[in-house]
Amino acid sequence: MVVQWFPGHMAKAKRALKEDIKMVDVVVELLDARIPASSQNPILKELSGNKHRIIVLNKEDTANPYITKAWIKAFHDEGIKAIAVDALKKKGINETLNSIAQTPIKDSVARRLNIIRPVRAMVVGIPNVGKSMFINSIVGRSSTKTGNRPGVTKGNQWIKIKENVQLLDTPGILWPKFDDEETGIHLAYVNSIGPKAFDVEEIVFSLTKFLIGNYPDALKERYNLSQVTDDTDAIIEQIGRARGLLVKGGNVDLQKTSEIILKDFRGGQLGRISLEKPKEMEGLNEYN
Ligand code: G4P
Repeated sequence: MVVQWFPGHMAKAKRALKEDIKMVDVVVELLDARIPASSQNPILKELSGNKHRIIVLNKEDTANPYITKAWIKAFHDEGIKAIAVDALKKKGINETLNSIAQTPIKDSVARRLNIIRPVRAMVVGIPNVGKSMFINSIVGRSSTKTGNRPGVTKGNQWIKIKENVQLLDTPGILWPKFDDEETGIHLAYVNSIGPKAFDVEEIVFSLTKFLIGNYPDALKERYNLSQVTDDTDAIIEQIGRARGLLVKGGNVDLQKTSEIILKDFRGGQLGRISLEKPKEMEGLNEYN
């Protein structure tokens, strides 16, 4: 697995993020609802210290709602508020806004001077988790830019999103973190690491294997399979053949077939699929 982030970039991104976090009261961490564990970068915990943190499980429309609920409970048990959001349809946006607005402001200067100031928030997350879409949803049409922020990153502005809430208009970009292969594979499934970093056929083999074990009906329905056996290669071949994806000599074009399966998964054509369960659910096989 090729790591795309080089130490130089990381150090720079880390410094910039640290500076931005200093300026806010609450960090809204976007995770992909299908992979809440793999889409986290533990560096954020280190950088945000004791700042208030809210977790947004974005793309909830693509994840298994039963498992998303279990994740919300698991985060709650850790003392962290987590909210299921569909940034495209603006589901969960109001709840997130209300949670942001309720953030306690730990600002001794403001308290001493008896100044009530808006809660300041920023959005962070790994690539493709939906940061821009989420910011667009939360800002809405009634947003007002409140002028340039002095110093720090040029171009960043505070956007007033509620009487008492201001949002940094540029999200903090976290780099995907994968020490173990499974995390890297999950990040590839959801398009958070570039296609050059993995082999699509390998990735789709493991995705199909997972689907056979956990969501066989999704495969059956999408590709009109008469039955789903646990022979992953045979299933991929059946899909390719049914789609007429053949190369010279009549063999299945595995590259194209893999690309189609991955596209279907990413686009939600296979239904609502969660790839990771919270620890509390491990051992249970109630995916559907
Ligand atoms: P980023 O800033 O974190 O990198 O993510 P961005 O907002 O650009 O969103 C990445 C992709 O995810 C976009 O699709 C966007 O439409 C989609 N997306 C964001 N939020 C949601 C959500 O709640 N539900 C669903 N289903 N999709 C969401 P895209 O432009 O088509 O890119 P891609 O899918 O080809 O990567």
